[in-house]
Amino acid sequence: MTKTIAMAGKGGVGKTTVAALLIKILSRKGLVLALDADPSTNLNQALGLALDDSQTVGTIREKMSDDVSKGRLSPTIVKQEYLFGKIVESLAESKGFDLLAMGRPEGPGCYCASNRFLRDSLDKLVEDHKYSYIVMDCEAGLEHISRQTTRDIDVLLIISDPTIRGITAAGRMKKLIEELRSNVGRAGLIINRVRGKLTPELKKAIEDTGLETFALIPEEPGMSELEMAGKPVTDLPQQSPLQLKVKEIVENLSL
Ligand SMILES: Nc1ncnc2c1ncn2[C@@H]1O[C@H](COP(=O)(O)OP(=O)(O)OP(=O)(O)O)[C@@H](O)[C@H]1O
Ligand SMILES: [Mg+2]
Repeated sequence: MTKTIAMAGKGGVGKTTVAALLIKILSRKGLVLALDADPSTNLNQALGLALDDSQTVGTIREKMSDDVSKGRLSPTIVKQEYLFGKIVESLAESKGFDLLAMGRPEGPGCYCASNRFLRDSLDKLVEDHKYSYIVMDCEAGLEHISRQTTRDIDVLLIISDPTIRGITAAGRMKKLIEELRSNVGRAGLIINRVRGKLTPELKKAIEDTGLETFALIPEEPGMSELEMAGKPVTDLPQQSPLQLKVKEIVENLSL
C-alpha cells in the first residue's frame, strides 16, 4: 500500500523544507514519488534536482490542448495515453525517489474531465512504479487538494509558524480540508521555527484548532547559510536539529 503524506499551511511556513527532508528520509525506506503541487515549482531546488519548465504537468497539458486545437494530434491517439506517456517522460529521477511537478494549474474555468484524466494518470503512475510513499508539497492555496486532482491523503501535516495568526490559519485550513474532502486519514500540526518555549497564548491557540501536535521544529541555525549558497536543504548535516526532528516525525507517525 502506498502511503500519501501531504503538506499544507500558509505561505512561507516551511512546507517545502519539511517535504524535501521527509522525501530524503523516506527514500531510504522505500521508493518515493515527490509531488510538487505548488505552481511556483521549487521542491526540486530544495532537493537539489534540476527541472525545466517543459517538465511540468501544466506545460504538458497546455501543449496537449494546443496540439488538439491545431489538429497536430492524430485523432487516433487516445488523449489519456498521450498524457500519461508525457507525464512519465517528465519525471525527474533521483536515488530513491522520482519527482513530478504539477506546474501551473488550468486556466479559467474548471475542466473537471481533465482533472479526472490527471488523477487517473497519477493512479496509473503509482501502480506502475509501485511507490511506497507519495509526498505532496502543496501551495498555500490548496488548489490541488480542493480540486481533488490528487489521491487520498493518509497523513496531512499542517505546518505553522509559532504565531497566533499562523495557528489560527492552520485551524481554518483543517476545517476547510475536512469540508472539501473526507478522504484524509490523520491530520496534525507541526509548529516550525520555534525559538524557546511556546507562550500560554500559543498553547491555547493550538488547543483551539482541535489538531493533534505532531512536532515542534526548532529554528535551524544552518538554514540561512545554505539558502545564501543556493544549496538544497537536504545538504543539512544528518545531526542538525531540523534533520533530527523530521526523522522523529517519521518514527512517531510510523511512516
Ligand atoms: N526550521 C527552520 N529554521 C530556519 N529556517 C527555516 C526553517 N524552516 C523553513 N525555513 C526557511 O523558511 C523559508 C520558507 O520555507 P519554505 O520555502 O519551506 O516554506 P513554504 O511553506 O514552502 O513556502 P511557500 O508557501 O512559499 O511555498 C525558507 O527560506 C526556509 O529556508
Ligand atoms: Mg513551498
